Amino acid sequence: MSDALTLPARTLTNDASWWRQAVVYQVYPRAFADSDGDGVGDLPGITSRVPYLRELGVDAVWLSPFYPSALADGGYDVDDYRDVDPRLGTLADFDEMVAALHAAGIRIVVDIVPNHTSDRHAWFREALASPRGSAARARYVFRDGRGPDGAEPPADWESVFGGPAWEPVGDGQWYLHHFAPEQPDLNWSNPEVREDFLTTLRFWSDRGVDGFRVDVAHGLAKDLPDPLPSAAELEAMPKDGTHPLWDRDDVHEIYAEWREVFDSYDPPRTAVAEAWVAADRRARYASPAGLGQAFNFDLLEADFDARQFRDVITFNLGLADVSGSSTTWVFSNHDVVRHATRYGLPPRGAGTEKHGKQWLLDGGPEDQLDRELGLRRARAATLLQLALPGSSYIYQGEELGLHEVADIPDDARQDPTYFRSAGAEVGRDGCRVPLPWDTDGASLGFGGPAQLPQPAWFRRHAVSVQEADAGSTLNLYRRALRLRAELQCDEALEWLEAGDPDVLAFRRPNGWTSVTNFGEAPVELPAGEVLLASAPLDGKLPGATTVWLRG
Ligand code: NOJ
Repeated sequence: MSDALTLPARTLTNDASWWRQAVVYQVYPRAFADSDGDGVGDLPGITSRVPYLRELGVDAVWLSPFYPSALADGGYDVDDYRDVDPRLGTLADFDEMVAALHAAGIRIVVDIVPNHTSDRHAWFREALASPRGSAARARYVFRDGRGPDGAEPPADWESVFGGPAWEPVGDGQWYLHHFAPEQPDLNWSNPEVREDFLTTLRFWSDRGVDGFRVDVAHGLAKDLPDPLPSAAELEAMPKDGTHPLWDRDDVHEIYAEWREVFDSYDPPRTAVAEAWVAADRRARYASPAGLGQAFNFDLLEADFDARQFRDVITFNLGLADVSGSSTTWVFSNHDVVRHATRYGLPPRGAGTEKHGKQWLLDGGPEDQLDRELGLRRARAATLLQLALPGSSYIYQGEELGLHEVADIPDDARQDPTYFRSAGAEVGRDGCRVPLPWDTDGASLGFGGPAQLPQPAWFRRHAVSVQEADAGSTLNLYRRALRLRAELQCDEALEWLEAGDPDVLAFRRPNGWTSVTNFGEAPVELPAGEVLLASAPLDGKLPGATTVWLRG
């Protein structure tokens, strides 16, 4: 029997603050739904699943890059910012998808990748075909190599994905790439670069896009001294707004220009910064004069621990107040090991790293991963998350309780971090395996051959299986999102003293209360009407469980 919860129709308003407490669902398009069976998830696939997203109850979809790309970095290597990858569809398909989402009351946020283009972008091809000192090279960061023929890199910098950050072009010049060599960094001091991105922001805004997720937002502005510092010198430089490469104060001049574009629409287009900066520097990205919101990855980085959660929440709500923004909560995305898996691994320092990558490197032996405990904690964490003020980002597949896929054969791997670290970094493919929609059909209903193979246990997590199970993770998310929409209120939170260091309890201004038992032993169930729980209660609040109450 289907346990589908049919939600009332919802129409979009011009409310300029829709994003402040929105639930945003991240779609990684090539692994979501494949409508034409070519093995690449596509835009018509997303359109066909709009009823699913509506039933789930999300307020917005964030679409990871869908632009033409050679996929050197999962689409974060963009060939053309104002088009759709032909394997994913056409601009007309994009318009249809936006119309379908909007008709279902769901907004759309697209990923914008301004730090680097792909090496197949027309600008980069032109730069390669043009001489040193040309206007075409001035759109990127070119430098002469060292040594007699410029055969040595300009500096010994390492890229984020491992390996050198400078790549030679054969004439004694080298270009900078913070990420893969196929991702040359743009020169944001160049007015043409700035102008072109304003055109891109208008292009998608005119097509009805509601907001932008800004990739590597802290990397755009650069001021490279001459001579270039060494990697060690770079590392020693303070990250106080004056660093040559990262989180420079002048990056905010770029976002002030973007803000003018955002505010020329009704409602204003929104933006959220992916900025890996010290927490006290995050507020500037989130300022209403800039991007307006910034990701806070602090909960994602925390252990499943009451003290850590409380500190992170208190700190980030304070920070949101300072910036005039609302905060963002996130446990999983396309870059990290899924949270059900992280929470099922032995604690850090006991053979695993922060994101559980060591477990993957070790081949993901089952004896180290407690799947049940991991999922139980993930469900508790998510229910807590969804009761917090601010917006919540959820990543495709977490609503199915998916674990990370560890056993991806080497020859199927795609993530450049894996190749550039010669396998030392296992990479991010394990959270990018195509979704299981059904127990049969091509790739469990994904629609085409799964390029990252789905393990046998994916079948148990299929949407159709979970729809028929009242206690499934999918039904927990659906109920939670429906209740959240009903209960949503002012962005305030009051901590309640639970009298147990393992129990975290807070109340929202309208009495909506969330209590999480992070420990193992059951505790007394607090007074109040039980609205929802992440696990059966049995008259007590068991370990690794969250309950919502009206108190
Ligand atoms: C952050 C994105 O989330 C990640 O997937 C990508 O590899 C880098 N930025 C480079 O664009």
